[in-house]
Amino acid sequence: MPTILAIESSCDDTSCAIIKEGKILSNLIASQAVHSQWGGVVPELASRAHHQNIVPVVDSALKEACIDKSAIDAVAFTRGPGLLGSLLVGTSFAKAFALANNIPLIEVNHMMAHVLAHFIDEPAPSFPFLCLTVSGGHTQIVLVKDYLEMEVIGSTKDDAAGEAFDKSAKLLGLPYPGGPLIDKYAQSGQPCFTFPKSKVGAYDFSFSGLKTAIMNFINNAKQKDAGFVDREMNNICASIQNIIIQTLLDKLCKAAKDLEINHIAIAGGVSANSGLRQAIKEYGEKYAWKTYIPKFEYCTDNAAMIAITAHYKFLKGAFSSQSVSPQARMKI
Ligand code: KG4
Ligand code: ZN
Repeated sequence: MPTILAIESSCDDTSCAIIKEGKILSNLIASQAVHSQWGGVVPELASRAHHQNIVPVVDSALKEACIDKSAIDAVAFTRGPGLLGSLLVGTSFAKAFALANNIPLIEVNHMMAHVLAHFIDEPAPSFPFLCLTVSGGHTQIVLVKDYLEMEVIGSTKDDAAGEAFDKSAKLLGLPYPGGPLIDKYAQSGQPCFTFPKSKVGAYDFSFSGLKTAIMNFINNAKQKDAGFVDREMNNICASIQNIIIQTLLDKLCKAAKDLEINHIAIAGGVSANSGLRQAIKEYGEKYAWKTYIPKFEYCTDNAAMIAITAHYKFLKGAFSSQSVSPQARMKI
């Protein structure tokens, strides 16, 4: 059973985790506060911050796990999707680490890793299950057939669910990332304002129309009453959160019914949303689903999810073609 060092650097979190025999020994994250003043992630600033953070984060993860570099059997990294400059820092570090320590590389797909975060702790879902993977860049319904065998059966045609939260928050004058703030205000509000639900086919989603509807709603309200948004912030946030959750769950329900699958999971940054977590529990009771909700620390980006995915890839011998094998090194 392997010991693997895993790196995640797809967006604005630099993270390193160590996994040994399938158990996470450390999972450290350096977040980048620099973006909040710009209202979103600035790719160039993100890659520079990854550059500064990566060595200290890796050192700390090794120290916390009480593991020496020489005990690492493979190094894993997020191959994509993500911001190119950010991915490049993690990829370069992983390649250099693999070369220096003469160990194989494992490439991990970020979205697959969000799903497999469910296998870090017990109880893990049994196959097949459906996973609603909702993050800042993606919204997917995934049919998970096995650890490394997944089919995306529905996805967003435009904005992702996390983007819908963040852009709505920006329209309300809230700082980035707005998702957690909408969640916080929504907890003291009622979903008393109505926004339209998008109509796209099958198990797909669309959130760009919602953004326009919210923009028009806010502009119209402000023209009549300048203090409306501040006064109604809790109710507006509850209404926005409600429509996003309803849109997600309508499609998830349809997929579960059509495919006759009752093991249902949520994953990705938006799965940290308290309204979605509560709603999925209630749907579970109503439709006799067995539901799986990740721990908060494994919802948003983290290297533990990269590590657990790499663990399964290692067991299958699924190494990167970019790995430098011992034989190749002999020829250099
Ligand atoms: O998975 P993630 O960390 O990064 C990507 O892969 O994109 O997801 C980040 C997204 C952001 O859009 C953030 O606003 C959203 O997850 N998010 C939330 C909450 N916590 C994070 N959205 C709603 N409610 C939350 N509590
Ligand atoms: Zn993510």
